[in-house]
Parts: sequence; structure tokens; C-alpha cells
Amino acid sequence: MMSFIGLKNYLDEVKQLLHPEMERTLLNHNKSDILHEAMSYSLMDGGKRIRAALCMMTCEAMGLDREKALAAAIGLECIHAYSLIHDDLPSMDDDDMRRGKPSNHKVYGDAMAILAGDALQGMAFLKLSESYPGSLATRLTNLLSSAAVKMVAGQSLDISVDQLNQEESLERMHRLKTGALFKAAVLMGAACGGLEDSDPRWKKLEIYSKKIGLAFQISDDILDVTGSDDLLGKTAGKDTANNKMTYVSLLGIQKAKEKLKLVVQEARDALDKFSDTGDSLKAVATFIENRDH
Ligand code: IPE
Ligand code: IPE
Ligand code: MG
Ligand code: MG
Ligand code: MG
Repeated sequence: MMSFIGLKNYLDEVKQLLHPEMERTLLNHNKSDILHEAMSYSLMDGGKRIRAALCMMTCEAMGLDREKALAAAIGLECIHAYSLIHDDLPSMDDDDMRRGKPSNHKVYGDAMAILAGDALQGMAFLKLSESYPGSLATRLTNLLSSAAVKMVAGQSLDISVDQLNQEESLERMHRLKTGALFKAAVLMGAACGGLEDSDPRWKKLEIYSKKIGLAFQISDDILDVTGSDDLLGKTAGKDTANNKMTYVSLLGIQKAKEKLKLVVQEARDALDKFSDTGDSLKAVATFIENRDH
């Protein structure tokens, strides 16, 4: 199986492919004014690029080059960056730090931060439509737009005044706000790799991706308590400060860690007998279990 170091190298390779193409995309669609600067500020720096990596990795697992999934990966990272800008706004989580630097609205102001998020969302779909032939573009648009709507639905549950107090509701919120984009990342990669949804492997990838998406948000909840500002690049302890319902606040740290372990194992199990090409995806599941930022 791909090692932890192997995966770190893979993420670095993804960044090398992704970043020049992202710069080009930003410039093509929006010449250098303040909106461009605000979009670039949040799209370009500091992210782990885990969604982009998942997309490219799944495409490769289907036997095609990762470059085939590059534009889809950019679409995913645009939606993700937009979600983070809006998530940090004073009216949402009110977070001053993101990816090791001041949040978008701390630099550009709330109004411009909202607009930068809006424009990144549009750019995601523009990138898909200009990069893929008709039927694939439609398929990818379908996957990404439904995930974007689900992400927002999850965020709306997150800010609802009624605190969720049951594990079932908490899991639903996490699946929506974070899981949906992880699922899209994997399935968009599969679609770029030519996999039809009638293929039995599609279902396995669907289960795997839902599990790692949930696992990722559980580990995010844990890291909010166990991590530091420096390591996370965002404000640790923010969930407690904001009185958020999380896996840790609901179950306690120990049970949250057990749940994480269980869900990650379920993700790996979903890829049993998938073929050797699923090994790197299993490594991502392990990475999510052990990550420190
Ligand atoms: C943070 O996502 C928001 C969540 C959905 C938990 P990431 O931890 O992937 O953020 P970056 O892209 O690496 O900054
Ligand atoms: C964010 O969840 C999920 C999104 C859709 C952006 P969090 O609010 O826990 O993410 P962080 O901790 O600020 O990155
Ligand atoms: Mg939030
Ligand atoms: Mg937040
Ligand atoms: Mg968090």
C-alpha cells in the first residue's frame, strides 16, 4: 500500500500540476482587479489539496492519466475555497485565521469576501464546461453542483439555532457540509477516468467516499480540540468557543476517536477486492485517521 510519505509526495505532485493551471484559470476569467486578488488569495495558498488529490487518484485508479482530472480537481478546489471564505465570515464562524494567514474578510472586508466566494463558485462550473466534452461536462456538473448544494445545506444545519443533540443529526450535518464534496471528488475522478455508474465499482467508490468524507469532518472536530493554531493554520478551540455541536462535544474525545477509527475502517473495507489500483485510496483513508492538520 502507498506509504504516508508516498501520499505526502503525491499531494506535492498534485500541487505542482494544480497551481499553474489555477493561476491561468483565474487570469483567464477575471483580470487583475481587487476581486481577482481576493479570489486568488484564498484559492492559491496553503490548502492540503486533498479533494483535488482524491479526484486525480481515482481517475488514475481507472487507468487514465491524472491530467485528465485536472480541470475537475480545480472545480472542486474552487468550491472548497468558496466554502471556507464564507464559513469564516463574522456572521458564520467568525474566524480570523485560515491556512496560516488572516481570513479573506480580514484582508478584503466582508462584502468583497462574499463576492470572491460567489465568483469562485461560478468559476468552478465554467472550468468544467470549457474543459470537457459535452456528456462528460454534464456528468461532472451534475456531481459538483449537487455536492455544492448539499454543502450549503449542511452549513445551514450547522448554524441553525436548534442545537443538534443526537448522533444521527450530527452525522447528517457532517455528511452534508463536508462529506458531499469528498464524494464528488472521488466520483468526478471516476467519471474522468471513464467509469460508468452502472459499473459495480461505482457503488464501492460511492460508499468509500461517503465514509472518508464523514471521517474527515470527525477528525476536523477532534483536531479543533487537540491541535494548535500553528499546526492547523486556523484558530484551534473555535468549536468550543462558538458552542458548536461536534463529535467531540457530543461523544467526548475518546469516543470520537473510536468513531473515526471505525468509519475509516469501513472506508477501507468498501474497497476490498476493488483491485490493486485502489491502494492509494486506502492510503488516503489511513491519512485521514492519522492526520495532524
Ligand atoms: C477544512 O478543510 C474544512 C473542512 C471541511 C473540515 P481542509 O482541512 O481540507 O482545508 P484545506 O483545504 O487543507 O485548507
Ligand atoms: C466547515 O466546517 C465545513 C465547510 C463546508 C466549510 P468547519 O467550520 O468545522 O471548518 P473549519 O474548522 O472552519 O475549517
Ligand atoms: Mg463552520
Ligand atoms: Mg469554521
Ligand atoms: Mg472545524
